[in-house]
Amino acid sequence: MASAENHPPPPPPPPPNGNFKTPLPKKPKVSTFISDSEVQSEFAHHDPSVARINNGSFGCCPASVIAAQQQWQLKYLRQPDSFYVNELKKGILESRTVIKNLINAEDVNEVSIVDNVTTAAAIVLQQVAWAFAEGKFQKGDAAVILHYAHGAIKKSVEAYVARAGGQVIEVQLPFPVSSREEIISEFRKALESGKADGKKVRLAVIDHVTSMPSVVIPLKELVKICREEGVDQVFVDAAHGIGCVDLDMKEIGADFYTSNLHKWFFCPPALAFLYCRKSPRSLDLHHLVVTHEYGNGLALESAWVGTRDYSPQLVVPSVWEFVNRFEGGIDGIKKRNHEAVVKMGEMLAKAWETNLGCPPDMCGSMIMVGLPARLEISSDADTVKLRNHLRESFGIEVPIYYQSPREDEVGPVTGYARISHQVYNKEEEYYKFRDAINKLVDNKFTCKLLHD
Ligand SMILES: Cc1ncc(COP(=O)(O)O)c(C=O)c1O
Repeated sequence: MASAENHPPPPPPPPPNGNFKTPLPKKPKVSTFISDSEVQSEFAHHDPSVARINNGSFGCCPASVIAAQQQWQLKYLRQPDSFYVNELKKGILESRTVIKNLINAEDVNEVSIVDNVTTAAAIVLQQVAWAFAEGKFQKGDAAVILHYAHGAIKKSVEAYVARAGGQVIEVQLPFPVSSREEIISEFRKALESGKADGKKVRLAVIDHVTSMPSVVIPLKELVKICREEGVDQVFVDAAHGIGCVDLDMKEIGADFYTSNLHKWFFCPPALAFLYCRKSPRSLDLHHLVVTHEYGNGLALESAWVGTRDYSPQLVVPSVWEFVNRFEGGIDGIKKRNHEAVVKMGEMLAKAWETNLGCPPDMCGSMIMVGLPARLEISSDADTVKLRNHLRESFGIEVPIYYQSPREDEVGPVTGYARISHQVYNKEEEYYKFRDAINKLVDNKFTCKLLHD
Protein backbone atom coordinates (compact mmCIF):
# COMPACT_ATOMS: atom_id res chain seq x y z
CA MET A 1 0.00 0.00 0.00
CA ALA A 2 2.78 2.39 -0.85
CA SER A 3 0.96 4.77 -3.14
CA ALA A 4 -2.49 5.79 -4.20
CA GLU A 5 -2.12 3.87 -7.49
CA ASN A 6 -1.84 0.64 -5.56
CA HIS A 7 -5.24 1.13 -4.06
CA PRO A 8 -8.49 -0.08 -5.55
CA PRO A 9 -11.03 2.70 -5.90
CA PRO A 10 -12.24 3.59 -2.43
CA PRO A 11 -15.83 2.78 -1.49
CA PRO A 12 -18.28 5.65 -2.04
CA PRO A 13 -18.58 8.26 0.73
CA PRO A 14 -21.43 7.85 3.20
CA PRO A 15 -24.73 9.47 2.38
CA PRO A 16 -25.45 12.72 4.23
CA ASN A 17 -26.88 12.77 7.75
CA GLY A 18 -25.51 9.37 8.62
CA ASN A 19 -28.61 7.63 7.22
CA PHE A 20 -26.68 4.70 5.83
CA LYS A 21 -27.84 1.13 5.93
CA THR A 22 -25.27 -0.27 8.37
CA PRO A 23 -27.24 -0.95 11.55
CA LEU A 24 -26.11 1.02 14.58
CA PRO A 25 -24.74 -1.03 17.44
CA LYS A 26 -27.63 -1.27 19.83
CA LYS A 27 -27.32 -0.93 23.58
CA PRO A 28 -27.04 -4.58 24.51
CA LYS A 29 -29.88 -5.93 26.65
CA VAL A 30 -28.10 -6.53 29.90
CA SER A 31 -29.98 -8.58 32.45
CA THR A 32 -27.30 -8.18 35.10
CA PHE A 33 -24.78 -5.41 35.17
CA ILE A 34 -21.06 -5.96 35.27
CA SER A 35 -19.92 -7.13 38.71
CA ASP A 36 -17.07 -5.63 40.76
CA SER A 37 -14.93 -8.70 40.16
CA GLU A 38 -15.58 -8.49 36.40
CA VAL A 39 -14.51 -4.84 36.47
CA GLN A 40 -11.32 -5.79 38.27
CA SER A 41 -10.57 -8.57 35.76
CA GLU A 42 -11.14 -6.14 32.85
CA PHE A 43 -8.29 -4.07 34.32
CA ALA A 44 -6.13 -6.90 35.67
CA HIS A 45 -3.29 -5.74 33.40
CA HIS A 46 -2.82 -2.62 35.58
CA ASP A 47 0.25 -2.80 37.81
CA PRO A 48 -1.25 -3.96 41.14
CA SER A 49 1.50 -2.28 43.15
CA VAL A 50 0.45 1.20 42.02
CA ALA A 51 -2.50 3.24 43.31
CA ARG A 52 -3.39 4.71 39.94
CA ILE A 53 -5.50 7.69 40.88
CA ASN A 54 -4.54 9.52 37.72
CA ASN A 55 -6.88 8.33 35.00
CA GLY A 56 -6.86 11.86 33.64
CA SER A 57 -3.41 11.70 32.08
CA PHE A 58 -3.59 8.57 29.95
CA GLY A 59 -6.99 6.96 30.50
CA CYS A 60 -7.40 3.20 30.51
CA CYS A 61 -8.53 0.39 28.22
CA PRO A 62 -10.33 -2.77 29.43
CA ALA A 63 -9.27 -6.29 28.43
CA SER A 64 -12.38 -6.92 26.31
CA VAL A 65 -11.62 -3.83 24.19
CA ILE A 66 -7.95 -4.79 23.88
CA ALA A 67 -9.14 -8.21 22.63
CA ALA A 68 -11.44 -6.56 20.08
CA GLN A 69 -8.57 -4.37 18.92
CA GLN A 70 -6.34 -7.41 18.45
CA GLN A 71 -9.05 -9.02 16.30
CA TRP A 72 -9.00 -5.99 14.02
CA GLN A 73 -5.22 -6.11 13.81
CA LEU A 74 -5.34 -9.80 12.87
CA LYS A 75 -8.05 -9.21 10.28
CA TYR A 76 -5.76 -6.68 8.63
CA LEU A 77 -2.69 -8.91 8.80
CA ARG A 78 -4.63 -11.92 7.46
CA GLN A 79 -5.67 -10.23 4.21
CA PRO A 80 -4.72 -6.53 4.02
CA ASP A 81 -6.18 -5.91 0.57
CA SER A 82 -9.58 -7.26 1.43
CA PHE A 83 -9.44 -5.44 4.78
CA TYR A 84 -8.77 -2.17 2.98
CA VAL A 85 -11.50 -2.63 0.39
CA ASN A 86 -14.22 -4.19 2.52
CA GLU A 87 -13.66 -3.35 6.15
CA LEU A 88 -11.73 -0.19 6.90
CA LYS A 89 -14.01 2.62 5.72
CA LYS A 90 -17.13 0.78 6.78
CA GLY A 91 -15.70 0.16 10.26
CA ILE A 92 -14.57 3.75 10.72
CA LEU A 93 -17.98 4.98 9.59
CA GLU A 94 -19.61 2.78 12.23
CA SER A 95 -17.33 4.27 14.89
CA ARG A 96 -18.12 7.78 13.70
CA THR A 97 -21.83 7.00 13.82
CA VAL A 98 -21.63 5.79 17.42
CA ILE A 99 -19.86 9.05 18.29
CA LYS A 100 -22.28 11.18 16.28
CA ASN A 101 -25.21 9.78 18.25
CA LEU A 102 -23.41 10.07 21.57
CA ILE A 103 -22.54 13.73 21.10
CA ASN A 104 -25.78 14.71 19.35
CA ALA A 105 -24.19 16.02 16.16
CA GLU A 106 -26.48 16.83 13.26
CA ASP A 107 -24.66 14.80 10.65
CA VAL A 108 -22.09 12.01 10.69
CA ASN A 109 -19.96 14.02 8.28
CA GLU A 110 -19.41 16.54 11.08
CA VAL A 111 -17.47 13.86 12.97
CA SER A 112 -13.88 12.92 12.10
CA ILE A 113 -11.69 10.50 13.96
CA VAL A 114 -8.09 11.53 14.56
CA ASP A 115 -5.28 10.32 16.78
CA ASN A 116 -5.58 12.74 19.67
CA VAL A 117 -6.59 16.22 20.72
CA THR A 118 -3.17 17.62 19.86
CA THR A 119 -3.71 16.54 16.24
CA ALA A 120 -7.26 17.91 16.21
CA ALA A 121 -6.01 21.28 17.48
CA ALA A 122 -3.37 21.45 14.75
CA ILE A 123 -6.04 20.73 12.10
CA VAL A 124 -8.22 23.59 13.34
CA LEU A 125 -5.35 26.03 13.86
CA GLN A 126 -3.79 25.29 10.47
CA GLN A 127 -7.07 26.54 8.97
CA VAL A 128 -6.76 29.72 11.10
CA ALA A 129 -3.21 30.25 9.84
CA TRP A 130 -4.46 29.97 6.24
CA ALA A 131 -7.19 32.52 7.00
CA PHE A 132 -4.43 34.99 8.01
CA ALA A 133 -2.27 34.03 5.02
CA GLU A 134 -5.15 34.43 2.55
CA GLY A 135 -6.19 37.83 3.96
CA LYS A 136 -9.50 36.68 5.50
CA PHE A 137 -8.08 37.67 8.89
CA GLN A 138 -5.92 40.77 9.38
CA LYS A 139 -2.62 40.95 11.22
CA GLY A 140 -3.28 41.94 14.83
CA ASP A 141 -6.69 40.23 14.95
CA ALA A 142 -6.95 38.36 18.23
CA ALA A 143 -7.22 34.82 19.48
CA VAL A 144 -8.17 34.27 23.11
CA ILE A 145 -7.11 31.21 25.05
CA LEU A 146 -7.38 30.28 28.72
CA HIS A 147 -4.27 30.81 30.81
CA TYR A 148 -4.73 27.21 32.04
CA ALA A 149 -4.90 25.77 28.52
CA HIS A 150 -2.82 22.64 28.01
CA GLY A 151 0.81 23.41 27.20
CA ALA A 152 0.73 21.65 23.81
CA ILE A 153 -2.33 23.60 22.72
CA LYS A 154 -0.74 26.89 23.76
CA LYS A 155 2.33 26.00 21.69
CA SER A 156 0.10 25.13 18.77
CA VAL A 157 -1.59 28.54 18.99
CA GLU A 158 1.88 30.12 19.08
CA ALA A 159 3.01 28.08 16.05
CA TYR A 160 -0.06 28.54 13.86
CA VAL A 161 -1.79 31.74 15.03
CA ALA A 162 0.85 34.03 16.53
CA ARG A 163 3.28 33.24 13.72
CA ALA A 164 0.59 34.04 11.14
CA GLY A 165 0.13 37.51 12.69
CA GLY A 166 -2.55 36.90 15.31
CA GLN A 167 -2.44 38.57 18.70
CA VAL A 168 -2.83 35.96 21.41
CA ILE A 169 -4.66 37.03 24.57
CA GLU A 170 -4.69 34.81 27.64
CA VAL A 171 -7.73 34.73 29.90
CA GLN A 172 -6.37 34.98 33.44
CA LEU A 173 -8.28 32.55 35.60
CA PRO A 174 -8.39 32.49 39.37
CA PHE A 175 -7.34 29.40 41.32
CA PRO A 176 -8.69 28.11 43.64
CA VAL A 177 -11.92 29.04 41.95
CA SER A 178 -15.13 29.54 43.85
CA SER A 179 -17.74 30.24 41.18
CA ARG A 180 -18.47 30.11 37.45
CA GLU A 181 -19.00 33.87 37.49
CA GLU A 182 -15.30 34.45 38.26
CA ILE A 183 -14.38 32.65 35.03
CA ILE A 184 -17.10 34.33 32.98
CA SER A 185 -16.01 37.79 34.10
CA GLU A 186 -12.33 37.16 33.27
CA PHE A 187 -13.35 35.80 29.87
CA ARG A 188 -15.38 38.94 29.10
CA LYS A 189 -12.38 41.09 30.02
CA ALA A 190 -10.15 39.18 27.59
CA LEU A 191 -12.68 39.58 24.76
CA GLU A 192 -12.91 43.32 25.45
CA SER A 193 -9.16 43.66 25.25
CA GLY A 194 -9.12 41.66 21.98
CA LYS A 195 -11.68 44.04 20.48
CA ALA A 196 -9.85 47.22 21.56
CA ASP A 197 -8.88 49.63 18.72
CA GLY A 198 -11.45 48.10 16.41
CA LYS A 199 -9.62 44.77 16.16
CA LYS A 200 -11.56 41.54 15.75
CA VAL A 201 -11.48 38.43 17.87
CA ARG A 202 -11.20 35.68 15.29
CA LEU A 203 -10.79 32.69 17.52
CA ALA A 204 -11.60 31.57 21.05
CA VAL A 205 -9.95 28.40 22.30
CA ILE A 206 -11.88 27.19 25.33
CA ASP A 207 -11.24 24.11 27.43
CA HIS A 208 -14.25 22.12 28.54
CA VAL A 209 -12.31 20.72 31.50
CA THR A 210 -8.93 22.28 32.15
CA SER A 211 -6.10 19.89 32.78
CA MET A 212 -3.93 21.58 35.41
CA PRO A 213 -5.42 22.86 37.58
CA SER A 214 -8.54 20.92 36.69
CA VAL A 215 -11.85 22.78 36.65
CA VAL A 216 -15.00 22.33 34.53
CA ILE A 217 -15.39 25.54 32.54
CA PRO A 218 -18.88 27.08 32.07
CA LEU A 219 -18.64 26.26 28.40
CA LYS A 220 -22.16 26.97 27.19
CA GLU A 221 -22.07 30.42 28.79
CA LEU A 222 -18.68 31.25 27.23
CA VAL A 223 -19.73 30.07 23.77
CA LYS A 224 -22.88 32.19 24.05
CA ILE A 225 -20.78 35.23 24.98
CA CYS A 226 -18.53 34.56 21.97
CA ARG A 227 -21.57 34.54 19.70
CA GLU A 228 -22.90 37.78 21.20
CA GLU A 229 -19.49 39.43 20.83
CA GLY A 230 -19.03 38.32 17.22
CA VAL A 231 -16.08 35.96 17.70
CA ASP A 232 -15.57 34.20 14.35
CA GLN A 233 -14.57 30.73 15.47
CA VAL A 234 -14.95 28.84 18.74
CA PHE A 235 -12.76 25.81 19.24
CA VAL A 236 -13.32 23.65 22.31
CA ASP A 237 -10.49 21.57 23.70
CA ALA A 238 -12.32 18.81 25.55
CA ALA A 239 -9.43 16.40 25.97
CA HIS A 240 -11.32 15.33 29.11
CA GLY A 241 -14.75 15.61 27.51
CA ILE A 242 -16.51 12.43 26.56
CA GLY A 243 -17.12 10.19 29.57
CA CYS A 244 -16.15 12.95 32.02
CA VAL A 245 -18.71 15.72 31.43
CA ASP A 246 -22.05 16.08 29.62
CA LEU A 247 -21.67 17.09 26.02
CA ASP A 248 -24.22 17.85 23.36
CA MET A 249 -22.97 19.53 20.19
CA LYS A 250 -26.27 21.18 19.36
CA GLU A 251 -26.58 22.67 22.84
CA ILE A 252 -22.95 23.80 23.09
CA GLY A 253 -22.98 25.40 19.66
CA ALA A 254 -19.19 25.60 19.10
CA ASP A 255 -17.69 25.50 15.62
CA PHE A 256 -15.13 22.86 16.54
CA TYR A 257 -15.08 20.49 19.50
CA THR A 258 -12.55 17.78 20.09
CA SER A 259 -12.41 15.12 22.78
CA ASN A 260 -10.03 12.29 23.42
CA LEU A 261 -11.68 8.89 23.45
CA HIS A 262 -8.77 7.20 25.20
CA LYS A 263 -9.00 9.25 28.43
CA TRP A 264 -12.52 8.73 29.77
CA PHE A 265 -14.13 6.56 27.09
CA PHE A 266 -12.04 3.39 27.41
CA CYS A 267 -10.61 3.40 23.88
CA PRO A 268 -7.09 2.13 23.33
CA PRO A 269 -4.46 4.80 22.83
CA ALA A 270 -4.74 6.91 20.91
CA LEU A 271 -8.06 8.18 19.66
CA ALA A 272 -10.03 11.42 19.54
CA PHE A 273 -12.94 12.81 17.60
CA LEU A 274 -13.05 16.23 16.03
CA TYR A 275 -16.53 17.66 15.53
CA CYS A 276 -16.79 20.45 12.94
CA ARG A 277 -20.17 22.07 12.70
CA LYS A 278 -21.44 21.94 9.13
CA SER A 279 -20.70 25.29 7.46
CA PRO A 280 -18.77 26.53 4.41
CA ARG A 281 -15.78 26.98 6.73
CA SER A 282 -15.66 23.28 7.57
CA LEU A 283 -14.60 22.68 3.95
CA ASP A 284 -11.39 24.59 4.78
CA LEU A 285 -10.34 21.98 7.31
CA HIS A 286 -7.78 19.45 6.17
CA HIS A 287 -5.87 16.71 7.86
CA LEU A 288 -2.22 17.60 8.40
CA VAL A 289 -1.18 14.42 6.59
CA VAL A 290 -2.25 14.80 2.99
CA THR A 291 -3.18 11.70 0.98
CA HIS A 292 -5.26 10.95 -2.12
CA GLU A 293 -8.35 11.65 0.03
CA TYR A 294 -7.43 15.37 0.03
CA GLY A 295 -10.51 17.46 -0.74
CA ASN A 296 -13.00 14.70 0.06
CA GLY A 297 -13.89 16.21 3.44
CA LEU A 298 -12.04 16.03 6.74
CA ALA A 299 -13.81 12.85 7.87
CA LEU A 300 -12.57 10.89 4.84
CA GLU A 301 -9.16 12.59 4.86
CA SER A 302 -8.76 11.49 8.49
CA ALA A 303 -9.91 7.93 7.75
CA TRP A 304 -6.87 7.35 5.54
CA VAL A 305 -3.58 8.97 6.51
CA GLY A 306 -1.38 6.36 4.84
CA THR A 307 -0.56 2.82 5.86
CA ARG A 308 -0.70 2.40 9.64
CA ASP A 309 -2.57 0.61 12.39
CA TYR A 310 -6.20 1.76 12.31
CA SER A 311 -7.40 -0.64 15.00
CA PRO A 312 -8.04 2.05 17.68
CA GLN A 313 -10.42 3.77 15.24
CA LEU A 314 -12.38 0.56 14.73
CA VAL A 315 -13.13 -0.48 18.30
CA VAL A 316 -15.57 2.29 19.23
CA PRO A 317 -18.61 -0.07 18.84
CA SER A 318 -16.89 -2.55 21.20
CA VAL A 319 -16.29 0.26 23.69
CA TRP A 320 -19.96 1.15 23.40
CA GLU A 321 -20.82 -2.45 24.33
CA PHE A 322 -18.40 -2.28 27.25
CA VAL A 323 -19.86 0.91 28.73
CA ASN A 324 -23.36 -0.46 28.42
CA ARG A 325 -22.50 -3.33 30.74
CA PHE A 326 -22.59 -0.69 33.49
CA GLU A 327 -25.81 0.58 35.01
CA GLY A 328 -26.77 3.76 33.15
CA GLY A 329 -24.07 3.22 30.48
CA ILE A 330 -21.54 6.03 30.07
CA ASP A 331 -23.80 8.51 31.90
CA GLY A 332 -24.00 6.19 34.90
CA ILE A 333 -20.22 5.75 34.89
CA LYS A 334 -19.71 9.51 34.70
CA LYS A 335 -22.13 10.21 37.55
CA ARG A 336 -20.62 7.59 39.87
CA ASN A 337 -17.06 8.75 39.08
CA HIS A 338 -18.03 12.31 39.91
CA GLU A 339 -19.64 11.34 43.21
CA ALA A 340 -16.69 9.13 44.16
CA VAL A 341 -14.01 11.70 43.30
CA VAL A 342 -15.81 14.40 45.29
CA LYS A 343 -16.14 12.04 48.27
CA MET A 344 -12.46 11.10 48.12
CA GLY A 345 -11.39 14.72 47.58
CA GLU A 346 -13.38 15.85 50.62
CA MET A 347 -11.94 12.99 52.68
CA LEU A 348 -8.37 14.02 51.77
CA ALA A 349 -8.94 17.75 52.31
CA LYS A 350 -10.39 17.00 55.74
CA ALA A 351 -7.52 14.68 56.67
CA TRP A 352 -4.91 17.25 55.61
CA GLU A 353 -6.91 20.30 56.82
CA THR A 354 -6.76 21.89 53.41
CA ASN A 355 -9.32 22.82 50.75
CA LEU A 356 -10.60 21.71 47.36
CA GLY A 357 -9.57 23.69 44.27
CA CYS A 358 -13.18 24.31 43.22
CA PRO A 359 -16.73 23.64 44.39
CA PRO A 360 -17.81 20.02 43.69
CA ASP A 361 -20.23 21.11 40.98
CA MET A 362 -17.29 22.57 39.01
CA CYS A 363 -15.52 19.24 38.67
CA GLY A 364 -16.15 16.12 36.61
CA SER A 365 -14.22 12.93 37.41
CA MET A 366 -11.10 14.81 38.59
CA ILE A 367 -10.76 17.19 41.53
CA MET A 368 -7.92 19.30 42.93
CA VAL A 369 -7.10 18.73 46.62
CA GLY A 370 -4.81 21.03 48.59
CA LEU A 371 -1.70 19.38 50.04
CA PRO A 372 -0.39 20.31 53.51
CA ALA A 373 1.64 23.55 53.49
CA ARG A 374 4.29 21.79 55.60
CA LEU A 375 5.45 19.91 52.47
CA GLU A 376 6.80 23.32 51.33
CA ILE A 377 5.99 22.93 47.66
CA SER A 378 7.50 26.09 46.22
CA SER A 379 7.97 25.59 42.46
CA ASP A 380 6.90 23.55 39.44
CA ALA A 381 10.13 21.58 39.85
CA ASP A 382 9.03 20.59 43.37
CA THR A 383 5.79 19.16 42.01
CA VAL A 384 7.69 16.93 39.58
CA LYS A 385 10.05 15.74 42.30
CA LEU A 386 7.24 15.06 44.76
CA ARG A 387 5.23 13.20 42.12
CA ASN A 388 8.25 11.01 41.33
CA HIS A 389 8.83 10.43 45.04
CA LEU A 390 5.23 9.30 45.54
CA ARG A 391 5.55 6.91 42.61
CA GLU A 392 8.91 5.48 43.53
CA SER A 393 8.66 5.33 47.32
CA PHE A 394 4.93 4.80 47.87
CA GLY A 395 3.51 3.31 44.63
CA ILE A 396 1.11 6.22 44.08
CA GLU A 397 0.55 7.86 40.71
CA VAL A 398 -0.94 11.33 41.01
CA PRO A 399 -0.10 14.65 39.31
CA ILE A 400 0.65 17.71 41.43
CA TYR A 401 0.15 21.39 40.70
CA TYR A 402 2.05 24.38 42.09
CA GLN A 403 0.07 27.50 42.98
CA SER A 404 2.22 30.47 43.87
CA PRO A 405 0.94 32.15 47.05
CA ARG A 406 -0.63 35.58 47.03
CA GLU A 407 1.36 38.23 48.90
CA ASP A 408 -1.16 38.57 51.71
CA GLU A 409 -1.53 34.81 52.37
CA VAL A 410 -0.27 33.23 55.57
CA GLY A 411 0.60 29.51 55.58
CA PRO A 412 -0.97 29.08 52.16
CA VAL A 413 -1.66 25.85 50.30
CA THR A 414 0.87 25.93 47.44
CA GLY A 415 0.44 22.40 46.12
CA TYR A 416 -2.66 20.64 44.86
CA ALA A 417 -3.00 16.99 43.88
CA ARG A 418 -5.30 16.23 40.95
CA ILE A 419 -7.08 13.03 41.82
CA SER A 420 -9.16 11.12 39.28
CA HIS A 421 -11.74 8.41 39.71
CA GLN A 422 -12.47 5.74 37.12
CA VAL A 423 -14.42 2.46 37.38
CA TYR A 424 -11.36 0.44 38.40
CA ASN A 425 -10.43 2.63 41.40
CA LYS A 426 -10.96 1.52 44.98
CA GLU A 427 -11.27 3.70 48.08
CA GLU A 428 -8.19 2.08 49.62
CA GLU A 429 -6.04 3.71 46.92
CA TYR A 430 -7.02 7.16 48.17
CA TYR A 431 -6.39 6.10 51.79
CA LYS A 432 -2.95 4.95 50.69
CA PHE A 433 -2.35 8.45 49.31
CA ARG A 434 -3.70 10.10 52.48
CA ASP A 435 -1.46 7.98 54.68
CA ALA A 436 1.63 8.55 52.52
CA ILE A 437 1.25 12.33 52.79
CA ASN A 438 0.56 12.10 56.54
CA LYS A 439 3.69 10.02 56.95
CA LEU A 440 5.77 12.59 55.05
CA VAL A 441 4.39 15.39 57.22
CA ASP A 442 4.94 13.40 60.44
CA ASN A 443 8.54 12.75 59.38
CA LYS A 444 9.11 16.50 58.85
CA PHE A 445 9.70 15.91 55.15
CA THR A 446 9.81 18.97 52.90
CA CYS A 447 10.37 19.20 49.14
CA LYS A 448 13.76 20.76 49.80
CA LEU A 449 14.95 17.27 50.78
CA LEU A 450 14.31 15.95 47.27
CA HIS A 451 17.05 16.11 44.66
CA ASP A 452 16.61 16.35 40.88
C1 LIG B 1 -6.81 19.95 28.28
C2 LIG B 1 -5.91 19.09 27.45
N1 LIG B 1 -5.72 19.40 26.16
C3 LIG B 1 -4.94 18.65 25.36
C4 LIG B 1 -4.31 17.52 25.83
C5 LIG B 1 -3.47 16.71 24.91
O1 LIG B 1 -4.08 15.45 24.71
P1 LIG B 1 -3.35 14.39 23.79
O2 LIG B 1 -1.97 14.21 24.34
O3 LIG B 1 -4.16 13.14 23.91
O4 LIG B 1 -3.33 14.93 22.42
C6 LIG B 1 -4.47 17.15 27.18
C7 LIG B 1 -3.81 15.97 27.72
O5 LIG B 1 -3.86 15.64 28.88
C8 LIG B 1 -5.29 17.96 28.01
O6 LIG B 1 -5.48 17.66 29.30
